[in-house]
Amino acid sequence: MPKHVAVLAGDGIGPEVTAEAVKVLRAVDPTLEFEDALVGGAAYDDGGHPLPASTLDLCKKSDAVLLGAVGGPKWDHVEPAHLRPEVGALLALRAELHLFANVRPAKTLKPLLNASPLKGAAGLVDMVVMRELTGGIYFGQPRERRDGGKTAVDTCIYSVHEVERIAEQAFMIARTRRHEIVSVDKANVLETSRLWREVVSDMAAKNPDVKVTHMLVDNCAMQLVRNPQQFDVILTENMFGDILSDEASMITGSLGLLPSASLSAMREGGMFGLYEPIHGSAPDIAGQQRANPIAAILSGAMMLRYTFGDNEGATRIEAAVEETLDAGLRTADIFEKGTRLVSTQEMGQAIVTRLG
Ligand code: IPM
Ligand code: MG
Repeated sequence: MPKHVAVLAGDGIGPEVTAEAVKVLRAVDPTLEFEDALVGGAAYDDGGHPLPASTLDLCKKSDAVLLGAVGGPKWDHVEPAHLRPEVGALLALRAELHLFANVRPAKTLKPLLNASPLKGAAGLVDMVVMRELTGGIYFGQPRERRDGGKTAVDTCIYSVHEVERIAEQAFMIARTRRHEIVSVDKANVLETSRLWREVVSDMAAKNPDVKVTHMLVDNCAMQLVRNPQQFDVILTENMFGDILSDEASMITGSLGLLPSASLSAMREGGMFGLYEPIHGSAPDIAGQQRANPIAAILSGAMMLRYTFGDNEGATRIEAAVEETLDAGLRTADIFEKGTRLVSTQEMGQAIVTRLG
């Protein structure tokens, strides 16, 4: 069965880091077939839209999408605003491809333990933020200005179905880990959070092999700094997940090195998914071979695991990344005295040679 991967390199450092991820993926699985398409500012400059119909079609007929990064100051003021890369490409891809489950692992890479702003206090962190990605205040209607522009309205909506399907994914992931879910909400204030908590509690009762607790989002933000090791899987809604996943990743000290997966329904063999580094397009260093390709490469590992069911291939990539860091190779973002500074391509190549 052919395995089709759409490669949407995008803007800024996107093309450089995805090139290395493709190199690593080819080395692990020569049967993968890659096809490139334009997205983001690059697509806007080319044809006036950050998500051309041809790109969306390619994604729909592929098994997985590898995305670099979109956006940059050049397109921050594009009008109308729905043509800006973040909204017009990223949010549109999530909605059009029904990518409701966002998996954001926050794991300390041992060689970078001291890069955490919490220093030794954070210890080895290994958690996953499961963020609902196609609902809540990001997509609720109405969203408008009223009173001649003096009032603005956003709407937060969740249905039982939306909460159930993301919670189901969280249970599945928890079973591959420490069997613990902390469901995060603001049930002391928000109606959507009370619904969220009811649905998750019902599912917890039916799945006693996983320990489920509930935590208010403000407390969770605090607990993440106080004792991040207590978390295994954090399950939460769209905007809370946006904020908490940034916090969680920073705590690991590996912010620029972390991958993510955005998944939709099961297909034969695995889940359709879009895989991307959590870092942005970093236009200030674009085109200079200074970007760190590790987040993109680890996103490729997640692709093998979730879409193609190749856990072994994924583990090989993860081990090669850790070995390369252990050997002291560093791109500029994580360089420190006593380590060896390498370019984007050199880092990619070093990982390929350590694939074992
Ligand atoms: C993210 C980003 C996006 C989000 C922005 C760029 C729309 O912050 O993927 O976390 O808020 O979801
Ligand atoms: Mg974010």
